[in-house]
Amino acid sequence: MIIAIDGPEASGKGTVAKLIAKKYKLRHLDSGLLYRLTGVNLLDQGITDDTTDTFVTAAISAANQITAEDLDNPPNNIRSMGVGINASKVAVIPDVRDILTAIQQNIATKKPGAVIDGRDIGTVVFPNADFKFWITASLEHRAKRRFLDYQASGRKDTLEEVTQAIKDRDYRDRNRAASPMKKADDAHLIDTSKMSIDAVIEALSTYINAKLANRVGKGQSQ
Ligand code: DC
Repeated sequence: MIIAIDGPEASGKGTVAKLIAKKYKLRHLDSGLLYRLTGVNLLDQGITDDTTDTFVTAAISAANQITAEDLDNPPNNIRSMGVGINASKVAVIPDVRDILTAIQQNIATKKPGAVIDGRDIGTVVFPNADFKFWITASLEHRAKRRFLDYQASGRKDTLEEVTQAIKDRDYRDRNRAASPMKKADDAHLIDTSKMSIDAVIEALSTYINAKLANRVGKGQSQ
């Protein structure tokens, strides 16, 4: 079983994906982590100027070096704003996307299946996923959440800086030519702005269970 959960930064999709995976006893795959691992590799080498050929070559090489094991041992700064920005920059490169898409397809199709969160899971990585969700929230709510995360981990970014960084990342993710961030036509939309995490999990589970029951019903009547 494949459950695709897409949405913009800080929409809550990562937390939701983890909890839904636990509930349905599936693997959880955070596809953003693959882009972040690629981005952090470049950052460590001091490569951040995405207008250069060096950036593209180094990004492809970094993506090729990623192994499934790297996902279990990411570096401490993997969630930092700088790594997020560089991840969004490497995500524009079609060859990088192809390499990372293949890794995702390989991991997620192993039994028992997976809940994958990202930007293009329902549109490109798994267009035939059993379930597709688009998890979103207002820019205001997303910025506040990310700001509080950063504060909790001792980072000093202001709310204005975090808001601007989210806006920039949304823009780059939505407007890139290769697999832009996009709601799949058949994805179920949930706006988490005013919902508790429990309510979001309840909404997803209700949708999944109804569809599963419908499938069983159809199977029995054949
Ligand atoms: O979900 P995240 O914030 O960890 O993702 C970091 C960046 O990686 C995001 O800005 C765009 C890119 N990404 C992507 O292009 N496609 C995905 N499926 C997941 C992430």
